[in-house]
Amino acid sequence: MAEQDALIEVNDLRVTFPVHGGVLRRRVAGVRAVDGVSFTIRKGEVLGLVGESGSGKTTVGRAIINLLTFTSPDVELGGSIRYVPTGAELNGAARAAMLPLRARIQMIFQDPYSSLNPRMTVEQIIDVPLRIHTDLPSDARRERMYELLERVGLQRAYAGRYPHEFSGGQRQRIGIARALATRPELVIADEPVSALDVSVQAQVINLMEELKHDFGLTYLFVAHDLSVVHHVSDRIAVMYLGSIVEIGPSEALWKTPRHPYTRALISAVPRPDPRSDRTKRVVLQGDIPTPLNKPTGCGFRTRCPIARESCAQAVPPLVDVGGGQQVACPHHAELD
Ligand SMILES: Nc1ncnc2c1ncn2[C@@H]1O[C@H](COP(=O)(O)OP(=O)(O)OP(=O)(O)O)[C@@H](O)[C@H]1O
Ligand SMILES: [Mg+2]
Repeated sequence: MAEQDALIEVNDLRVTFPVHGGVLRRRVAGVRAVDGVSFTIRKGEVLGLVGESGSGKTTVGRAIINLLTFTSPDVELGGSIRYVPTGAELNGAARAAMLPLRARIQMIFQDPYSSLNPRMTVEQIIDVPLRIHTDLPSDARRERMYELLERVGLQRAYAGRYPHEFSGGQRQRIGIARALATRPELVIADEPVSALDVSVQAQVINLMEELKHDFGLTYLFVAHDLSVVHHVSDRIAVMYLGSIVEIGPSEALWKTPRHPYTRALISAVPRPDPRSDRTKRVVLQGDIPTPLNKPTGCGFRTRCPIARESCAQAVPPLVDVGGGQQVACPHHAELD
């Protein structure tokens, strides 16, 4: 891969949601949902972000688009998220400072049922970002709305219909059209197909890939499932309990996963020929702990087949293992 410019630089991002208790609703604890995450999103790439439920993927995406303080005003944020083209700091930025950037960073949500206002027509839904972020006159906005509809595979005649008149796949197409209305550079897609029937998942992913090429987009593609993400991603970051445990080029990570957690995720993917699975199977016991009582040291050690006492001492840093892959496990070589 050629050297690419960075679009987003995330450095030591920390997100803590306060937990309130007692009659006075005082802060009694904090949920460290994201615990010191650093990565770069390069211009034009698809960065996949995978991990089990609760690992912090959505929180990372919402931190980048600056939605956290909006929905949880008392959230505690640390570290930085830099939008490289303008040098702006996104982490905890005020709404006014964020407004011009919101046109350049858009989001596609997981649930195409709840993310579209049921009282608005398709035309009104797509018009909202155009009214907020552009000064196009109404006929130009309508023209762009029609173009977008066609571009995502929906007929112009649908513009006057309401979300409930569409299938899940069609609704996600409407959500995609809305996200692209302001001609963004970065699209954060938070599990964009996991609420859809398997038969339409591939169609929506194919559409997203076409649009990426046509509009020169960059994606942060969040998913549970490595098998969904590895086809579309240039690089993949694997999260566990608020930390990135491994990051690297998609094919390298898929073929030679290094971290025991990445191996477990890949072992769990059904393969047509079990003998083609060259990596040793790692089967995980138990569930992911909650970030409220995260283990000391390496967060994965309570479920790790090669854990030892020293793993409780300190959080292992991401270390380069060649080929662009970085792994947060000093003992990973033992799995071979
Ligand atoms: N607004 C909030 N208030 C309190 N805790 C929260 C809030 N949002 C997320 N959390 C907690 O932060 C942790 C990470 O949640 P997050 O939704 O980012 O995970 P995820 O990887 O996206 O999971 P999923 O795959 O289920 O979508 C979880 O323990 C979750 O309960
Ligand atoms: Mg999520």
